[in-house]
Amino acid sequence: MSITSKFLQGVRRHRETAKQIKFKGCLEDYLKLLEKSPLIACLAHKRLYNQIMSYGVTTLDESNDRCHKLFDGETVKIYNYFSNHFFGMERSLGKVMRFLQSASMRGEESRQVLLLLGPVGAGKSALVEHIKSALEASEAAYTLEGCPIREEPLHLIPRSLRDEFAEQYGVKIEGDLCPVCRHRLLSEFDGDFTKFPIGQTSFSIRGRKGVGVVPPMDPNTQDTSLLIGSEDISKLDLYPEDDPRVLSLNGAFNVGNRGIVEFVEVFKNEIEFLHTMITATQEKNVPSPGKQAMIYFDGVILAHCNEAEWNKFKSEHTNEAILDRIVRVNVPYCLEYEQEVKIYEKLINRSDFDYHIAPHTLEVAAMFAVLSRLKVSNKVDPLTKMKIYNGEEIVEKGNIKKVDIKDLREEVEDEGMTGISTRFIMKAIDASLSDSTKNMITPISIRDALIKQVKEQIVNPEERKLCLQFLQKTLHEEYLSILEKEITKAFVTAYDEQAESLFNNYLDHAEAYVNNTKVKDKVTNEDMEPDEKFLQSIEEQIGIKGSAKNNFRADISSYMFAKLRRGEVIDWKSYGPLKEAIETKLVASVKDISRIITKSKSRDLKQQKKFSSMAQTLMDNYGYNEDSAEEVIKFAANNLWRDS
Ligand SMILES: Nc1ncnc2c1ncn2[C@@H]1O[C@H](COP(=O)(O)OP(=O)(O)O)[C@@H](O)[C@H]1O
Ligand SMILES: [Mg+2]
Repeated sequence: MSITSKFLQGVRRHRETAKQIKFKGCLEDYLKLLEKSPLIACLAHKRLYNQIMSYGVTTLDESNDRCHKLFDGETVKIYNYFSNHFFGMERSLGKVMRFLQSASMRGEESRQVLLLLGPVGAGKSALVEHIKSALEASEAAYTLEGCPIREEPLHLIPRSLRDEFAEQYGVKIEGDLCPVCRHRLLSEFDGDFTKFPIGQTSFSIRGRKGVGVVPPMDPNTQDTSLLIGSEDISKLDLYPEDDPRVLSLNGAFNVGNRGIVEFVEVFKNEIEFLHTMITATQEKNVPSPGKQAMIYFDGVILAHCNEAEWNKFKSEHTNEAILDRIVRVNVPYCLEYEQEVKIYEKLINRSDFDYHIAPHTLEVAAMFAVLSRLKVSNKVDPLTKMKIYNGEEIVEKGNIKKVDIKDLREEVEDEGMTGISTRFIMKAIDASLSDSTKNMITPISIRDALIKQVKEQIVNPEERKLCLQFLQKTLHEEYLSILEKEITKAFVTAYDEQAESLFNNYLDHAEAYVNNTKVKDKVTNEDMEPDEKFLQSIEEQIGIKGSAKNNFRADISSYMFAKLRRGEVIDWKSYGPLKEAIETKLVASVKDISRIITKSKSRDLKQQKKFSSMAQTLMDNYGYNEDSAEEVIKFAANNLWRDS
C-alpha cells in the first residue's frame, strides 16, 4: 500500500471515530444519561480538576529520599499529569490543584481568578498551556446545539422546576439560557424546551472551543469585544436591533465558557479592560455586547504575570475589587539543580538534537542558574546552600554541624523570584554549541559561553559581579573537584571497594572511639585502641580538626546506627560529609600519579598505557566521547595537579 493510501485510511478511521462519539438527542435523552452519570453536567472547575486527576496521583512520602530531605517529611502529592513535564515545581502545582479542588466543590475558589505569579521563564505559560491541553483530552461536553457559547443543556429547565430537579437528580442547576438560545427556543420551538436539540462539543485550543485566550493589549487596541464579543454589523440590516441573532459571541469569555479563559501577562492591560473579570467571578455573568441581559459564564479563569507588574497593580487601591477576586500562586524558579537539569533535558530533546553533551555540562549550567536565584544565607555559603537545597547531606568545609534546610528556608522570603532564567541558560547552550568545532558542549565551553553572556547581557553591576564570581570562582572550583574525583575513579582500579573499605574501617574505629571500646584487628583478632592517626587522616580531608572531631564521630555513629535500625543498607555514600572525606582521601592518594599521567609530555610507555585505559574508562563508563574526554583531561592537567 502506498504511503498516501495508508494515510488516507487513517484519516477515514479518524473521521469514523469522530462521528461515533457525537451524541444527538433532546432533553429526554440527555436526562437519561444524566441519571446514570450526573458528572456529565458538572461545572468547568470540576471537569478540569477531574480530568487532571484522572491521570493519577502518587505521593512522595517519607520513604522517598527527595521528599524526606526537601519537604521535611511532609507528604507531597505528585500529579502524574504534570510529572513528566514540570520539575522542581511540586509546591506550586500543589497549590494550583488545591485551588481547583476547592473550586470543583463550588467553594469560594470557583468565584476567583487563579493568578500565577513568577519571574520570566519560570514556566507559567508552559503550565497554563499544559492545563489547557488537559481539556482537549477530556471527553466532549453536552451542549445545546447551535449555541454560540456551547452552554449546558440543563439551562433549558425553568427556574420553577429546578428545586424539584435537584432533589430528584442530585444535580444543582446554575445559569440561564443565553440570549441566542432563548430566542431560538421561543421562535423555533414555541417555548417547548423538551424539543430543543442537544449535541456534544469537544474542547480545542486552536479551534477556540472551550478555551479563550486574552493576550496583553496595548491601550489603543483594547476593546471589550475581545472579551465579550460584539454586534455583527452586517446582520444589523437583517434583524431588529435587539434581536440576539445580531450578536457575535466570540469574545474570550464566550469562547472559554465551560472551559478556561486565560489572561496572558494580565496586568499589562488597562484596569477598565479587566472589569469583566469581576462580574465573571462575582456574579458568574458577563455583559452581552448588545442590549441583551447578562450572559451566564462558567469557566476557570487563569491569569499570569511577573512580579513587577503585580506590585504596580497591587499598589493602586482602586484595584481592590479585582484584588479581592484573586488567588495568587507563586511560581518561582526551580531551586534544585538536579531538577533544573531535567528542564534543560526536556527543552533540548524538543529541538533536533544530535550533538554530544559531556558529563556535568548541564549540571554546571543548572548550578549557576540556581546559585543566581538563591538569597544570601547567614548560615552557609552559597554553594553549600545550593547543595542542601538539592537534598544533599552536606557540611561546609571545617564545619561539623549539618544545617537544616528548614532553617535556610525560614531565613528568607519569596526565594526564586529573581535570578537567571531558563531561557538565559538555553541561549548559552545554543551559543556554546554553535561555537564548537567538534559538535559538542562541555562544562568548560558552557561556562565560557555563560561568562560571555553575563558580560553582554546583565547590566546591573552588582548582579553581574556576583554572576561572574559564581562562574569564574565558585563553579570553576566546584567543577574541578567533580572532575578530579571522576578522573580518579576512572583510573583507580576497584575504586568502590577501596572507598568501602576506608568507610568500614573508619566506622569501626570511630564507633570504638565514641563508645570507649576496642577494635578487633581483622587479621590477628587482637583487641586494639582506635587508630587516632587513621581517623584524623580521613577527617582532615574535610577540614575537621581539634575537638570538632568528637562531635563528628558521634554524629556519624548515631546516624549510621539509626539507619541500620530502620533496616536501611549503609555504604560509603550514606553520609554526605564522610563520603566527601573518603573521596578526597582517595583523590589525594593518587595525586602524584594523576599529575604525571595527565601531562602528556612526561608520560613513559607504561604511563601511556595507563593513560589510555583511563581515557577509555571515561568513555565506557562515564559518558564521554573521545573529544570530550580529551578536552576535560587537558583541562584537568592545566588546572589540577599543578607542578608545585
Ligand atoms: N520547572 C520547570 N519545569 C519544566 N519546564 C520548565 C520549568 N520552568 C521553566 N520551564 C520551561 O522553560 C520554558 C520557558 O517557560 P515559560 O512558560 O515561557 O515561562 P514564563 O511564562 O513563566 O515566562 C518553557 O519551555 C518551560 O517548559
Ligand atoms: Mg509567559
